[in-house]
Amino acid sequence: MKNRYAQKDINQQTYKIQNGELSSRTEQDILLDTRLLSISQELLPQYGGNWNLHNVVTLKQKALSRIIYYHELYQKILDVPGVICEFGVQWGATLALLQNFRGMYEPNNVSRTIFGFDTFEGFSTVDSKDGGFAEIGDYRSLPNYEDTLEEILSIHEGLHAVSHIKKFELIKGDASQTIDGWLERNPHAIVSMAIFDMDVYKPTKDVLEKLMPRFVKGTLLVFDELNCPQLPGETLAVQEVLGLNNIRLKRHPFQSYCAWGVFGE
Ligand SMILES: C[S@@+](CC[C@H](N)C(=O)[O-])C[C@H]1O[C@@H](n2cnc3c(N)ncnc32)[C@H](O)[C@@H]1O
Repeated sequence: MKNRYAQKDINQQTYKIQNGELSSRTEQDILLDTRLLSISQELLPQYGGNWNLHNVVTLKQKALSRIIYYHELYQKILDVPGVICEFGVQWGATLALLQNFRGMYEPNNVSRTIFGFDTFEGFSTVDSKDGGFAEIGDYRSLPNYEDTLEEILSIHEGLHAVSHIKKFELIKGDASQTIDGWLERNPHAIVSMAIFDMDVYKPTKDVLEKLMPRFVKGTLLVFDELNCPQLPGETLAVQEVLGLNNIRLKRHPFQSYCAWGVFGE
């Protein structure tokens, strides 16, 4: 992974690209975080059978906030039929959360397939509408990471009910293009929740336009970088396709740039 360290001042706040990801961490934050990581790496092999639970001792507020945020979002779709699509998967943290929430709240709902779209090579396009921060390749994970993620998600599925029916799929490639094949292969699919977390303008706009016929009144639309000065492309895509006047966007107190809205409301 590249070690780019760009810096820009926006509204008196310093934002940096650290290891290909936008961050506003201070030097002190980085110091504490690095120490916590090293303690976590040391302890992980020593926890024993309950390693996953004990590992929560190093879980930070930011990660916990995101878990709670998605937990609340998941509950909003329990009475909405359809599949879940996440555009922008990266390491798969949100996909795994969604799988777990499905296991908790609707373990027998075999129709709630979860689809994850990603290049698995980071940003593949950056438009002039994306501002100056984003660069091709930002937010990449590891070469062939999709194979590792496939195994991780299969293990999660194996730990839940009705595990003999596969209820997730990873779609590799530029979502601007892969969405066409997905629509063709899945003529039945209506979308209960669409998560837009590709951060950049073009694929967000393309997918919104192409997927919209599969939304119902009640589809939960989730945006991860709305109103974000460093990454304006997502807001512009929403503005151009949905119209900011046409959707009642809401935010959650735990998440700065995330917004969600119910299609048709
Ligand atoms: C911020 S990360 C997603 C994080 C993830 N949603 C999570 O919660 O952990 C953004 C992801 O969008 C992906 N991405 C960007 N442009 C894309 C495109 N045109 N097609 C598919 N994926 C894209 C990147 O590869 C990257 O993994």
